[in-house]
Amino acid sequence: MKVKEGYYRTIWIKQGDKKTIQIIDQRSLPHEFIIKDLNTVDQVAEAIKDMYVRGAGLIGATAGYGMYIATLEALVSNSFDEHLNLAAKQLTATRPTAVNLAWAVDRQLKAIQKGNNNQEKVDIAYRTATEIADEDAEYCRKIGEFGLSLIEEIQLKKKGKRINILTHCNAGWLAFVDYGTATSPIYAAFDKGIDIHVWVDETRPRNQGARLTAWELYEHGVPHTVIPDNVGGHLMQHGQVDLVITGTDRTTYTGDVANKIGTYLKALSAKDNNVPFYVALPSSTFDWEMRDGCTDIPIEKRDENEVKYIQGLCDGEIKKVLLTPLESPAANYAFDVTPGRLVTGLITERGVCEANEKSILQLFPEHK
Ligand code: MRU
Repeated sequence: MKVKEGYYRTIWIKQGDKKTIQIIDQRSLPHEFIIKDLNTVDQVAEAIKDMYVRGAGLIGATAGYGMYIATLEALVSNSFDEHLNLAAKQLTATRPTAVNLAWAVDRQLKAIQKGNNNQEKVDIAYRTATEIADEDAEYCRKIGEFGLSLIEEIQLKKKGKRINILTHCNAGWLAFVDYGTATSPIYAAFDKGIDIHVWVDETRPRNQGARLTAWELYEHGVPHTVIPDNVGGHLMQHGQVDLVITGTDRTTYTGDVANKIGTYLKALSAKDNNVPFYVALPSSTFDWEMRDGCTDIPIEKRDENEVKYIQGLCDGEIKKVLLTPLESPAANYAFDVTPGRLVTGLITERGVCEANEKSILQLFPEHK
């Protein structure tokens, strides 16, 4: 996607150096645009855990590349397979909620074991990592096409008046390899000349909305307004939101949606105000084993300091400042689960379906 005069993906293999992965370090956005090299599995694991990269699709793609790096390390280790399995465990343990992570690691393990010798395994891992990343970008592009039809329906109803879309957290291209999920229909509509405006939830505590979604939309030229997390209900009550689109980190095959903390409250508010609430996801974000998301999806708890401190630009430097009394404890639940009954529909790379088992499995019959 667009950054200044250039076009970027969020992750790629360094040109001329097949042993180095490059990422955009999201910790310093929007104030600094830093590209970071990753050369070891330890570095890849740290990048996922400490959120240099984040978002379901990008975590998956990074883990895919991480497994390729693991094969390079395994070549010079005592036992190829043992090193690979340890790397798989290390990467899978970095973040528990986004299912794309385990999905990408498993996909790599299954593919790599088909190699007849270690060099062949490295080549397979390289190809699979590239496939995972390219597929993620392509699926997100398709999500944009299907989501665009929903926006066009609203455009007809509103007779061309400006369409207001609310989104939570960052399910933009920064959370994937390209395009994003929640933002993909937004970019498609904007590029088609539809008059849209986006309400961007700031998304405490790490402010992915205020820092990342706002930056993406700004770089692309999409009109937007950053709002504190508690404003959405008020806007919906006053007819200022035509559509909510969020992403998800894990969605059960029954339609329960885990997403950034605070999403559930937006869904409740949307229901109460008859605002359509859509969730956009590639099929890699479905958990085909899990039935009850509200009880079974593991919810990541992060360091309380992410709540107690806030990061921003001060005198030209990125700084963290303490927000609460130093002694006050804080709770940092990173995700919540919105039951499928509150979700109007799921926008996937195969089309739009309802958030229930029957409709999801109709679209993805191979998982019946
Ligand atoms: O903690 P994060 O930033 O990795 O959380 C993921 C998210 O950005 C959101 O929950 C997002 O809406 C879904 S992932 C595309």
